[in-house]
Amino acid sequence: MTIEKVAVALDERSYDIHIGDDLLECAGAYLSPLLRRPRLVVVTDENVLAAQGPRLKFGLNAENIQYEFVTLPPGEQTKSFAMLEKLTNALLELEIERHDLVVAFGGGVIGDLTGFACAILRRGCRFAQVPTTLLAQVDSSVGGKTAINARHGKNLVGAFHQPVVVLSDISALSTLPSREIRAGYAEVIKYGFVSDRQFSEWLSKNGSKILEMGEEKERQFAVKKSCETKAAIVAADEHENGKRALLNFGHTFGHAFEGAFGYTDKLLHGEAVGLGMSLAFDYSVRVGMCSESEATSAKAQISKSGLPTTIADLNSAPPSAPELMHLMMQDKKREAGKLTLILAKSIGDAHIVKDVDIADILEFLKEKTAA
Ligand code: NAD
Ligand code: GLY
Repeated sequence: MTIEKVAVALDERSYDIHIGDDLLECAGAYLSPLLRRPRLVVVTDENVLAAQGPRLKFGLNAENIQYEFVTLPPGEQTKSFAMLEKLTNALLELEIERHDLVVAFGGGVIGDLTGFACAILRRGCRFAQVPTTLLAQVDSSVGGKTAINARHGKNLVGAFHQPVVVLSDISALSTLPSREIRAGYAEVIKYGFVSDRQFSEWLSKNGSKILEMGEEKERQFAVKKSCETKAAIVAADEHENGKRALLNFGHTFGHAFEGAFGYTDKLLHGEAVGLGMSLAFDYSVRVGMCSESEATSAKAQISKSGLPTTIADLNSAPPSAPELMHLMMQDKKREAGKLTLILAKSIGDAHIVKDVDIADILEFLKEKTAA
């Protein structure tokens, strides 16, 4: 497999995303030129360490890079104040300096937490993303959003802090459980829904090859295409003053469900995004923006991949509509106490809709949670 490269153009904060197989074994060669001294710290979780750690260690040893691992528990609950404190203290204990490199080696949880720790450590130190989930390769490792969850909601405490390089090893996905591949696929579908109807049609035909084992060519294409779309949006609107918010399609609904389920594995982030995008299409129909048939085909694409499209699909007692509404109102896109939603006119044509009717959203949620 040829290694593909996608550039994220952000002036002095620009960096490359390298996408291919066996990148972990070559990680030392990619990271060496970025080091001021031949030493780095890798932050990971227990699952990633067991499944992929030996490959990264091989790559670092090959270039005589000294390294220490900081290993955290897996799961969304690791994106917490408690783990942020633990991680920042561990990095200080290891005397990480501003110009040193910290490597976030794992999924979106490790990437978001490590990126945020690096944003605030000594007022900012450099970090690299080595994403090992489909979700992290297509979305969270790119664009510099870093965060932890708070009692009041998802990703509410964070910073924009760009990595210096992203190494996306497609072969690392071979050990990822199929439920996690599906969850990551939700963010792939998202790019088609937001702005690329042609990609959405390609996914309708080829999605099963991305979901199944061994189809690395299609996975590499999906990662590259997703990164190209995201890189272009981030280059135009790094700090989400405008169109970057489109990448939040389905997330305001989805984050509320994740919060209501306590960030447990009852509902993974990507599953919440699948459900959230379905609800965003339903709500787009309700306000007359989108046709019923268009929403039906979008939801068919989500459900074909095994992701939830209705609250009944969650197989858990649904949260109450007021609880969901309360969580939605903490969304980062709120302005002057009003809620902003990303809605779609059709597949490939999403829009930012400000000042949505909060009473009507509550009614919509009541109907959906009662169904
Ligand atoms: P995750 O990091 O929890 O990883 C999923 C699971 O897979 C974990 O149990 C992990 O230990 C395991 N795992 C990871 N790589 C593995 C591998 N190669 N083999 C075996 N097991 C492996 O979850 P995720 O879906 O990667 O990320 C979700 C997070 O990403 C959420 O917190 C979400 O908010 C965040 N996110 C951030 C952005 C952003 O722009 N910063 C974008 C999208 C999502
Ligand atoms: N995942 C949405 C963003 O990075 O803007």
